[in-house]
Amino acid sequence: MSSLCNLQFSYLLSHNKLWNNNLDDIREKKVGQYTSTLFKTCKLIIPSASLANTSLSYNTTTHNSGWFGKFGGKYVPELLMTCLSNLEDEFYNAINDAKFQEELKVALRDYVGRETPLYYAKRLSEYYKKDYGHEPEIYLKREDLNHGGAHKINNALAQAMLAKRMGRMSIVTATGAGQHGVATAAVCAKLGLSCTICMGSLDIQRQPSNVGIMELLGAQIKTVDGTYKDASSEAFREWVANLESSYLLPGSVVGPHPCPMMVREFQSVIGNEVRKQAMEKWGGKPDVLVACVGGGSNAMGLFHEFKQDEEVRMFGVEAAGYGLESGWHSATLSKGDVGVYHGTMSYLLQDDEGQIVGPYSVGVGLECPGVGPELSYLKDSQRAEFHSVTDEEALLAYKRLCKLEGIFPALEASHAVAFLDKLCPTLPHGTKVVLNCSGRGNKDVATVQQLDQTVHMYNYDRGNNSLHNTKTTLPTQRLLNIPTEEHALRFPYLREYVQQPYSRKNNK
Ligand SMILES: Cc1ncc(COP(=O)(O)O)c(C=O)c1O
Repeated sequence: MSSLCNLQFSYLLSHNKLWNNNLDDIREKKVGQYTSTLFKTCKLIIPSASLANTSLSYNTTTHNSGWFGKFGGKYVPELLMTCLSNLEDEFYNAINDAKFQEELKVALRDYVGRETPLYYAKRLSEYYKKDYGHEPEIYLKREDLNHGGAHKINNALAQAMLAKRMGRMSIVTATGAGQHGVATAAVCAKLGLSCTICMGSLDIQRQPSNVGIMELLGAQIKTVDGTYKDASSEAFREWVANLESSYLLPGSVVGPHPCPMMVREFQSVIGNEVRKQAMEKWGGKPDVLVACVGGGSNAMGLFHEFKQDEEVRMFGVEAAGYGLESGWHSATLSKGDVGVYHGTMSYLLQDDEGQIVGPYSVGVGLECPGVGPELSYLKDSQRAEFHSVTDEEALLAYKRLCKLEGIFPALEASHAVAFLDKLCPTLPHGTKVVLNCSGRGNKDVATVQQLDQTVHMYNYDRGNNSLHNTKTTLPTQRLLNIPTEEHALRFPYLREYVQQPYSRKNNK
């Protein structure tokens, strides 16, 4: 890439323009105002066929092309097109190479610890019988037992092996909750690759234990003001500035083609194992699949294997944060609009100008401004159903799984567990539910305790007005869970503690 193009491209990235444009803007060519200086060297690729209305029946035959109906694509400057095409070729070379496949299989078994168990959660199943009279059979896919504590390593390992095969010895990525960061740092150490991880300053404060692990594993942490939204843009900038030597390792099924397809393929080991394990355990398929949705990699990892089995119902659970109407949530599919962000078309949280509205959840890893394009297609084709649960519901589910099963799920996975409250009363007796327990929750213990203490304090210590006198900024309020106007709307007794009434435009 020429340095001029590089500079301009970085400028556009830093102003969030090239990566975040409304579909209507693109159709009306409003993006030209941002890209006119680049057009000769870095034109936007907008295949007009992709914008046509597509059939809503789910069709997987074309889904390796990078389009999922109107979603997906490669909205990138022309020079990145070559990089992405090379990446796609190398990906196919690798997965068709028996040696690569064998090395990956051995590493998944001996390093990651696959296969992960499909665990019958008997007491959790009984809990729903007690309340609702009929009992689903709930099975947890134990991705929390993977090395590093989450599903993220399935993808990080395979992509790092691919990068090394391509001669890229320097890995750059971004992390929110730190689980993808830990996974990437670990596999880079194992493979002798250098590793730079961009992380938002607020996320560093919210997930400190993972930061410590990443550093011990030899990664260089690059602190970026803000959250994952900001860190992921910085990772793109790092990559674009060093295209020859570096490899951008996406942690979810997002970004331009082939990234969503590659990450899905590397995560589909989850669903493949579930099919085999279900056959061994009850001689059939699951009736219902449940997964939390941030960018969507653990959900696609579970769903991909079963997309063609129409009798298998698929549920994705988004983070409703303080509530869908509060504006503080990460529910891109429930409340977002279609637009282009980070090189792909999908549902996004954006304002009227097409600028990203920062997502929020107590499950930091669910704070993705844009969801993977295939999930957008699953929503519009109605092949999967999407729901959301609040911070409070996720917190209760975290504690319930601890008490009933002795399993501590990540707060992200707790959103899927919490959804069982809404789902189970609707299910016939004996329904086989497979829930992806995408990660373990030791990283979240301090958050859970802090939230508990906060609630405790609000309930029993209302005479203490120390919070009332604290001057604080909004991010600090979020970090400390000091009540905002949105809290007060949900819990009127908190109103007396609200410091800085902060109105936030809902994105819809
Ligand atoms: C344990 C866990 N589950 C889920 C997610 C959400 O990511 P995705 O939707 O890509 O699975 C994260 C992200 O960090 C995570 O750490």
